[in-house]
Amino acid sequence: MPMIFVPKEILHEETRVAASPETVKRLVKMGFQVVVERDAGLASFFSDEAYIEAGAQIQNDVRQGYAQADVILKVQPPLQNKLLERQEADLPKDGALWVSFLWPRTERPLMERLAARKVSAFAMDMIPRISRAQNMDALSSQSNIAGYKAVLIAADHLPKLFPLMMTAAGTVKPAKVVIMGAGVAGLQAIATAKRLGAVVEVSDIRPAVKEQVESLGGKFIEVESAESGEGKGGYAREVSADFLKRQQETIARHVIAADAVITTALVPGKKAPILVTAEMVQKMRPGSVIVDLAVEQGGNCELSEPGKVVVKHGVQIIGHRNVPGRVPYESSQLYARNILFVLQHLFKKGTDLKLDFEEEITRGSIITHQGQLVHEIFAPPKTEKSAAPTETAKPTEAAKPAEAAKPAEAAKPSEVFLVKDTAVSEKKES
Ligand code: NAI
Repeated sequence: MPMIFVPKEILHEETRVAASPETVKRLVKMGFQVVVERDAGLASFFSDEAYIEAGAQIQNDVRQGYAQADVILKVQPPLQNKLLERQEADLPKDGALWVSFLWPRTERPLMERLAARKVSAFAMDMIPRISRAQNMDALSSQSNIAGYKAVLIAADHLPKLFPLMMTAAGTVKPAKVVIMGAGVAGLQAIATAKRLGAVVEVSDIRPAVKEQVESLGGKFIEVESAESGEGKGGYAREVSADFLKRQQETIARHVIAADAVITTALVPGKKAPILVTAEMVQKMRPGSVIVDLAVEQGGNCELSEPGKVVVKHGVQIIGHRNVPGRVPYESSQLYARNILFVLQHLFKKGTDLKLDFEEEITRGSIITHQGQLVHEIFAPPKTEKSAAPTETAKPTEAAKPAEAAKPAEAAKPSEVFLVKDTAVSEKKES
C-alpha cells in the first residue's frame, strides 16, 4: 500500500496544509496509507484527532515520514529546514512523487536538486489552464481567496466606509476602488468590492476581460493603443515600455482619485509590471490604501515592500505575503481538494502511479523524473543545427541537472511509467 506523507509547512507564517481531514478520508478510500506530521493542520484548524478519525496516522519524526513516503504532499516548495540543518529536497527517498507549488521557471537550482534526488516533482503551479484540469487548479483556488481577502484588508485599513449610506446625519459617499488586473484574483476583488457597495474601476491589458469586468458591475478603464496584452492560453504577455507608459498615464487620474487600489497584475514568468508609480502615490489622498497582491513577484506599486505595511505620503501600502494563508481554513480545504484531484488523475485503479507523458496535464506539470529535468521549459532552444536529430542531440531530451551523477537518457514523452504499490519499482507499460 503506497504511503502518503503530509509534512507540516516550515515556511515562516505558512498556515496552510496540503491535506484536510476530508481529503485524507478520500485518499484512504483510494487505498493509500496516509501519514500526517504532528500538528501539520493546526494553523488551518484541523486537529490531529480529526486526521486520525479520517484514517490517518500521526508521525512525530519528520525524517522518518519523508524517508518512508512514496508520495509527499506540500503547499510550499522544498525549503531549508533550520532544525534539521538540511534541505527538505534531500529528505524524500529515491523515486518518491513530490506534489506542491514549485515555481520551476525561477527555481532551476532547486529543480536540479530534486532531480538529483530522483524525485518525480509535480508542480501545482504548472497545471495547464484547460477545462479538464479546473478542479486541480490551485492557482485559481488560492487567487480567488486572495482577491476576496485583499478587499477586506483594504476596507479594514481605510478610514472610510465602502458603501453609500443614507443616515439622519447626512449621506456618506461610496468608496472608490481601483483594481489593476482582472484575472482570477482581480475578478473576485471586483465582485467583493461591489458587494460591499464600492464604486469599482478596473484596468487590464487583455481586451477580452472588459466584458467580464462589466458583468460584475465594474467600469473598465480603456488604454488607447493598437497593442494588445493578450498572450498564450488566456494569460497576459509582457507589453512594451511605450504601452506601459500610456497605461500609467491613463490610470493615473483614476488612482489619484481612489480611496483604495488593489493590484493583482501579473505576467507569467516575468517581474510584475509597475503600474502605481511613486508620483501617483504622492498625489493620492492621505488615508488611502493600496493592497499589492503582486508584491511577491516584485510588486505593482513602486513603493510596496514585501511582508510590510508602509505609510508613504500618508498612503497605507500593504504588501502582505501569502494572502491566501490569512484565510487558512478555506485555502487549505480548497488546495487539499485540488491535490486530491491531481492524485485521482495520476493514480489509476486507486494506487497505481502512471506518469503518462503523452497526456497534457502530466506533461505540463511534471518537472523532474528519473534524475532528469523533463519539463519542456528546460529543453534547450532549438537551433537549425539541433533541429535535425543526431546521435548526440535528441530533440526530446531535456536539459540535464548539474548534479545528476549518471544522467540516464531523459524520460521521453512517449514513455508511460507504471509504479505498483511503491514509488521505486518502475517498468514500461507493454
Ligand atoms: P495572472 O495572475 O497571471 O494575472 C492577473 C491579471 O493581470 C491578468 O488578467 C493579466 O491580464 C493582468 N495584467 C498583466 N499585466 C497587466 C498590466 N500591465 N495592467 C493591467 N493588468 C495586467 O492571471 P490569472 O488570474 O492566473 O488568470 C489569467 C487568465 O487565465 C484568466 O483570466 C483566464 O482567462 C485564464 N484562466 C483559465 C482557467 C481555465 O480555463 N481553467 C482557469 C483560470 C484562469
